[in-house]
Amino acid sequence: MDPHILILGAPGAGKGTQSDRIVSEFGVEHVTTGDALRSNKEMDIGHLDLEYDTPGEYMDRGELVPDVVVNEIVDKALSEADGYVLDGYPRNLEQAETLSEMTDLDAVLYLDVDEDVLVDRLTGRRVCEECGATYHVDFNPPEEEGVCDECGGDLYQREDDTEETARERIRVYEENTQPVVEFYDDEGRLVRIDGEQTPDEVWDDVRDAIEANA
Ligand code: AP5
Repeated sequence: MDPHILILGAPGAGKGTQSDRIVSEFGVEHVTTGDALRSNKEMDIGHLDLEYDTPGEYMDRGELVPDVVVNEIVDKALSEADGYVLDGYPRNLEQAETLSEMTDLDAVLYLDVDEDVLVDRLTGRRVCEECGATYHVDFNPPEEEGVCDECGGDLYQREDDTEETARERIRVYEENTQPVVEFYDDEGRLVRIDGEQTPDEVWDDVRDAIEANA
């Protein structure tokens, strides 16, 4: 069976960057709540009687989208995948408990990066609107400014990658998701990886950890 991999880390820690490599190397699905929610930002969730009527209103403020919306997305995606790398979920202890009822994990990886580095990475990130490839204006620039090397598509800045929203996302992460990291650490399953290395060096550690655990 293909591996079940969970990748944890703060906003901008490099989860998406490393998940793309995991998909290529291990042939698993990339299950990411961030992308799933971005494709459904305007979805009408008014019938759930929550604070806001669409996922986008939570996302653009840097807040978490309510569990009732996110749990359903993950449950469906995992039930359709054989192997997967799960990125962006769980983000609080309730989601971690729900996940343990849905599936078994082979490897739990944590990308460790300091807050100031995270803000620089998020505010400089650019994403291709055609194929989703990710760049950074300083750390990983495209050959031609604003144009994707892979497919020639236009690059854009995510609406939640402004400095103000990035800092709020990091604060929300510290409050809600750091306990999830401790939860897996207490279970003795967490593999800590230095996420401040270059993407290639991080990848060497990620691949080794998957091969040793899955
Ligand atoms: P989501 O899309 O999951 O965002 P995130 O967790 O904030 O993570 P990011 O995608 O911003 O960062 P990343 O770690 O993937 O970094 P990347 O590889 O791109 O969530 C967005 C929103 O959706 C949330 O705020 C929330 O509202 C909602 N949501 C999602 N899941 C939810 C859930 N489960 N429950 C409730 N709400 C949920 O790298 C960042 C940059 O750094 C790039 O520019 C990259 O080129 C560069 N970079 C990467 N690695 C390196 C390196 N080693 N060295 C130098 N630069 C690097």
